Amino acid sequence: MIDIKNQQHLIRRVEFKDAEALADLKIRLSQETDFIPFLDIERDTLISHTKDELSQLLSNNRAIWVIEDTGSLVGYLDIDRYLMPKVNHAAFLEIGIRESHRGLGLGTNLILESELWAKSVGIKRIWFYVVADNLGAIILYLKLGYRFEGLRRNGYFVDGKFTDEYIMAKMI
Ligand SMILES: CC(C)(COP(=O)(O)OP(=O)(O)OC[C@H]1O[C@@H](n2cnc3c(N)ncnc32)[C@H](O)[C@@H]1OP(=O)(O)O)[C@@H](O)C(=O)NCCC(=O)NCCS
Repeated sequence: MIDIKNQQHLIRRVEFKDAEALADLKIRLSQETDFIPFLDIERDTLISHTKDELSQLLSNNRAIWVIEDTGSLVGYLDIDRYLMPKVNHAAFLEIGIRESHRGLGLGTNLILESELWAKSVGIKRIWFYVVADNLGAIILYLKLGYRFEGLRRNGYFVDGKFTDEYIMAKMI
């Protein structure tokens, strides 16, 4: 468990008891942003899916952090490493912060925390896709040393519109 107090928000590793709150956070984020491709499924199904995921978290292969503010989850970061040898030096990152809590440095802190963990378990490469319109996120990633590696043309489809996605990565 990693505890960091940052502007009165607690950043900590997820626990099994957070499953329902994490599912609710993802539902809220999917209502607030078009930039994360969440599953369009019923709340109960998402909760049971999240419980399955949390019960299967393997200490060296996947880690999830949550940000807690007065008892509610307001953000999360999920970093998931490939299991297969030859590629398990690489991990895929996903992040989301509630609209009310953006711009406070929480995203930066979450990413830096995940990089420390990733280094400690031998991960060498962190990567993800980012929708080309998501300038705020792209600025944050560039500031933290992530670089463009490629483009997935029309990789994203939302509200009847195709958008390109960048592949971004950082060697750590
Ligand atoms: C992208 C996201 C994780 C950033 O988290 P955050 O906590 O708001 O980011 P931070 O406060 O740490 O921002 C750090 C820096 O990134 C840049 N940045 C972040 N959001 C920005 C925005 N909307 N516009 C311009 N710059 C932005 C700024 O340079 C900022 O530094 P500054 O505040 O000193 O100017 C958050 O906005 C989010 O969850 N968005 C919706 C979901 C999403 O897009 N996820 C990423 C999918 S790839």
